[in-house]
Amino acid sequence: PDLSQIYNLNDFEFVARHTMEHTAWAYYSSGCDDEITLRENHLSYHRIFFKPRVMVDVTNIDLSTTMLGAKVASPFYITATALGRLGHPDGEKVLTRSAAKQGIIQMIPTLASCSFDEIVDEATDKQTQWFQLYVNSDREICKEIIEHAEERGMKGLFITVDAPQLGRREKDMRSKQIEDISHVQGDDADVDRSQGAARAISSFIDTSLKWDDLKWFKSVTKMPIILKGVQCVEDAIIAAKLGCQGVVLSNHGGRQLEFSRPPLEVLIELMPVLRQQGLDKNFEVYIDGGVRRATDILKAMCLGAKGVGIGRPFLYAMSTYGDEGVTKAIQILKDEMVMNMRLLGVTSIDQLNESYVDVRNITNR
Ligand code: FNR
Repeated sequence: PDLSQIYNLNDFEFVARHTMEHTAWAYYSSGCDDEITLRENHLSYHRIFFKPRVMVDVTNIDLSTTMLGAKVASPFYITATALGRLGHPDGEKVLTRSAAKQGIIQMIPTLASCSFDEIVDEATDKQTQWFQLYVNSDREICKEIIEHAEERGMKGLFITVDAPQLGRREKDMRSKQIEDISHVQGDDADVDRSQGAARAISSFIDTSLKWDDLKWFKSVTKMPIILKGVQCVEDAIIAAKLGCQGVVLSNHGGRQLEFSRPPLEVLIELMPVLRQQGLDKNFEVYIDGGVRRATDILKAMCLGAKGVGIGRPFLYAMSTYGDEGVTKAIQILKDEMVMNMRLLGVTSIDQLNESYVDVRNITNR
């Protein structure tokens, strides 16, 4: 269909499912095992209802906010997803260009199909980018990657901590024949490709990564350090106490531990604890997984998130309609944000708080 017939992010997924090359679709869409966590990530948002306020002047709506000190046009960002070229010849650069146009942040993945420098070169001078790090067992290589990322102006180091081993994504494993990974870090001649794309490219990831290693990361970079893939309150508290600037509550879009809880549920538990312990200052909580509508974003923001990451929908938009698709996907979310903030009775992001949501279906309170 023509792009004008696309009304929401789910429409991109529908078109992608029916038009994308199967291997790419399988890699992008798959979750682990029976895809329960993949589905619940999204369904958890359906358990929360709004408590809108009326009789508020909602003529002017401001979507802007800040993330790690950077100004952004809207409180969502393009999260890191590997292998962009499976879906589009320009790969991650498509996302870079659309993010620039729309004033949102892009998180660049370690396992991008384009080289890191190519992606950074594509960015405008004032564009904010973050870097997602898969920790290499070889700390010298790791250090070089981090230093280079900092030199090239990355405004945040997001260390992925939910993937000491890649989950079993069976759709991806079945489609096997991945051609486009030979230039990606960690891939070498003896990598076993029979287990799908994900496993083939992840053999370099350090399985021994532990809390104690944070000191080392802090010693090699001045970038803010955020742990991506925290899945419970306890770990988020440790991260805050050890001086991380934030966490991303995430289960990798349901691609890692099956039956990991939806991050939204963890967020509801975490924020009161952070406040009680006085750890909520200078510590930003992000969330990703299953976000498809501005109402989802607004719910997370009401519950204390500083920003919301979105993965697959932008991959689908990129794979089906390229630059225009991703730009439109972002615009759709912005339009939905404006409309829903009006209907909710708020005019700026800082007004969003728990009083606007009913979480009884999740907390039994
Ligand atoms: C991912 N994700 C991911 N995360 C990460 O830290 N490093 C990576 O290389 C990747 N690669 C990747 C590839 C693909 C195809 C997907 C779908 C996801 C996880 C990603 O950052 C994020 O946590 C989820 O995508 C969020 O869920 P949604 O928005 O896709 O539902």
